[in-house]
Amino acid sequence: MTAKELKKKFVDFFLDHGHLEIPSASIIPENDPTTLFISAGMHPLVPYLSGQTHPLGKRLVNVQKCIRTGDIDEVGDCHHHTFFEMLGNWSLGDYFKKESISWSLEFLTKHLKINPSEISVTCFEGDKNAPKDNESAQIWQDLGIAKIKFLPAVDNWWGPAGQTGPCGPDTEIFFNGLEIWNNVFMQYLKTANGKFQKLPKPNVDTGMGVERTVAILNGFNDDYLTSIWTPIIKKIEDISGKKYQDSPRPFRIIADHIRSAVFVIADGIEPSNKEAGYVLRRLIRRAIVQAQDLGIKNNFVTTLAETIINNKKNYAGDYDFDTKKIKIILAQEEQKFRSTLDRGLKEIEKLITNDNLSGLNAFNLYQSFGFPLELIKEEVEKRHYKLASDFTDQFNQAKLSHIKLSQTLSAGKFKSGLADHSDITTKYHTATHLLQSALKKTLGEQVHQAGSNLTASRLRFDFNYPDKLTEKQITKIENLVNLAIKSALPVVSKNMPLSTAIASGALHLASAQYPDTVSVYTIPGFSQEICIGPHVSNTSELGFFKITKQESAGSGKRRLYAVLDKI
Ligand code: SER
Repeated sequence: MTAKELKKKFVDFFLDHGHLEIPSASIIPENDPTTLFISAGMHPLVPYLSGQTHPLGKRLVNVQKCIRTGDIDEVGDCHHHTFFEMLGNWSLGDYFKKESISWSLEFLTKHLKINPSEISVTCFEGDKNAPKDNESAQIWQDLGIAKIKFLPAVDNWWGPAGQTGPCGPDTEIFFNGLEIWNNVFMQYLKTANGKFQKLPKPNVDTGMGVERTVAILNGFNDDYLTSIWTPIIKKIEDISGKKYQDSPRPFRIIADHIRSAVFVIADGIEPSNKEAGYVLRRLIRRAIVQAQDLGIKNNFVTTLAETIINNKKNYAGDYDFDTKKIKIILAQEEQKFRSTLDRGLKEIEKLITNDNLSGLNAFNLYQSFGFPLELIKEEVEKRHYKLASDFTDQFNQAKLSHIKLSQTLSAGKFKSGLADHSDITTKYHTATHLLQSALKKTLGEQVHQAGSNLTASRLRFDFNYPDKLTEKQITKIENLVNLAIKSALPVVSKNMPLSTAIASGALHLASAQYPDTVSVYTIPGFSQEICIGPHVSNTSELGFFKITKQESAGSGKRRLYAVLDKI
């Protein structure tokens, strides 16, 4: 079974069971500062899992593009990927465990033709916060599944996405011992004081990874042997003159990282030294270093990207790649990195003391140039130097400290980002709508959003406009927004068919895919936008609006930063 067939079967199955399909959201979260990338199908649905009404109703299904960079170092084995697609179905306060588990089993056995005797499951064993999930286990048992294990929260509890919010036990489904599906039963709300309250209307959130499931269904123990990957692997074989089976690790890393890079660029990110752009840069650079290791000395990234794009029939939906743009960005980055690589290799010389390279210096090379350890060792050997006697210990120690530090930093980011679905970010979100209207009123109707990013301390807004704004224009924009705030206008949301929303002039992103029914947020006399929210209910809640900085956001684009004061 191909990835495409699996995706169609999954979506059709849930459509037949009363679900409506939502398009994959962009891989870059809109207005969510908590993470750099969408990492699960439920991620863009957090407002709805927290109680907001979804315009398409209570049963949803989709195929979501995801990026998980948490275990980037694991990529290279048979099952890890940074980019993957996730199949998911959701009940927003509608059906619960019985339907969810029965449908999962029906789909696996009747539609994917898996023998029930090869299925085993795990359920939550209970702890001080929530009881053992006997209910799920009983449902499995009644359906004839005998292999049921109870495990603790680290295995069978999911969420909340932040420190508070919906969460609950999950049941994981294994086929021949490999996990393929996770059904989360969001029946609790974790509150700010750490308590778990029962939700009046619990949700279901499930997720199945396409890459792994396709491999397992085809009897492969290596995801990279499926038709999702074979054209890419074949291309790397052609370019390198080496065989995948002889050294699969670098092949997997190159294939995985360049595939992720293509999707990340397609969703509007360019390599940079910050946030998502930095992750993109690391992906491209790691792939180039691995290619170097495979003996690929010439530029190859754009050729490989072309193969990935030509193979797009394997991916969900109708990904519309701007091949030219993707290739230009990749070519520039490859060019830039090849000169760094040369410098890095020369750097090794400078880091040698008494003919030895220390573990700490090796880690710095690894960290700053993205050189894998094997490459460093090889280069040292080539130059007839040695590794220091405590090399491995020191390298591992430095790596561990670095991992701890980045975990602390990302935990910090996550924590501060928790304000995301909280009051302050909601205020910035509404302010963004006011700003877009004020820009149109000041600079002309042709101005539209080219990007947006919110944190709990500021908003950032990109729009198409060729020139630097004058002081006068900035003041006018601020005054218009502050006038809307002072006028205490209500913010009203209404669900309507997409065509009606567009016909009524509601602003929307040309690049986004919208479902057939959408919610439109209106601030009377000021703004009307297709948006999933959340927003404040009255503009008077926003305080005082001030633009703090403007800069270029690439050719023909400007970027504004603004804050809300006294909120
Ligand atoms: N959110 C759950 C997961 O990521 C189920 O989709 O596993």
